[in-house]
Amino acid sequence: MALRLKERLGKKFDEEIRFFKGMMQGPKTVGSIVPTSSITARKMASVINLNSGLPVLELGPGTGAITKAILGRGVKPENLVAIEYSTDFYEHLVRLYPRVRFINGDAFDLDKTLGDLKDQTFDSVVSAVPLLNFPMQARIALLESLLDRIPAGRPVVQISYGPVSPIIARPERYHIQHFDFIVRNIPPAQLWIYRRT
Ligand SMILES: C[S@@+](CC[C@H](N)C(=O)[O-])C[C@H]1O[C@@H](n2cnc3c(N)ncnc32)[C@H](O)[C@@H]1O
Repeated sequence: MALRLKERLGKKFDEEIRFFKGMMQGPKTVGSIVPTSSITARKMASVINLNSGLPVLELGPGTGAITKAILGRGVKPENLVAIEYSTDFYEHLVRLYPRVRFINGDAFDLDKTLGDLKDQTFDSVVSAVPLLNFPMQARIALLESLLDRIPAGRPVVQISYGPVSPIIARPERYHIQHFDFIVRNIPPAQLWIYRRT
């Protein structure tokens, strides 16, 4: 029992070291200071429709906290495509979940990054990319590109740490929903859902 606890604490510590290493490599791209809490991750994964038969797209998996929740929700690893910019996180994720389709690339350049999967329709998008670190035009372009890859009405769920939606309203293009505010996350997190109107 004591050994199992030691192993678990060791794993958690390893994840956090990896996270700080990722930050040192590119603090602007990491965005938050600690891995997403399991409560937040599960809430984000709750938007997935398991019956759609379509794969799920994850952006910015980092240490894999949200990936774990998506798989825990019942998505088959082969049905999860996840784009991670940091090579260090990417290599760790591939070792952790060898059957998930991780791509080491830039979520803001989706056609190129998705390669053979660029015409794939996804069920939904679960995103932890630090949008606030990017210009508004890039955030809007990313959202438009994501909404074009999921059926009308299906969600892009985004985690963010500011008081307002990280993407400005354009009611003629998409609908914004404040999905949740989760205090049990470091820092407390806001969840936003975007859908085609
Ligand atoms: C706030 S962290 C996500 C933390 C993650 N949910 C976890 O629990 O470890 C943001 C992640 O987005 C990744 N990222 C930043 N810019 C990106 C981009 N342009 N494309 C893909 N991933 C990106 C970072 O490398 C980092 O892993």
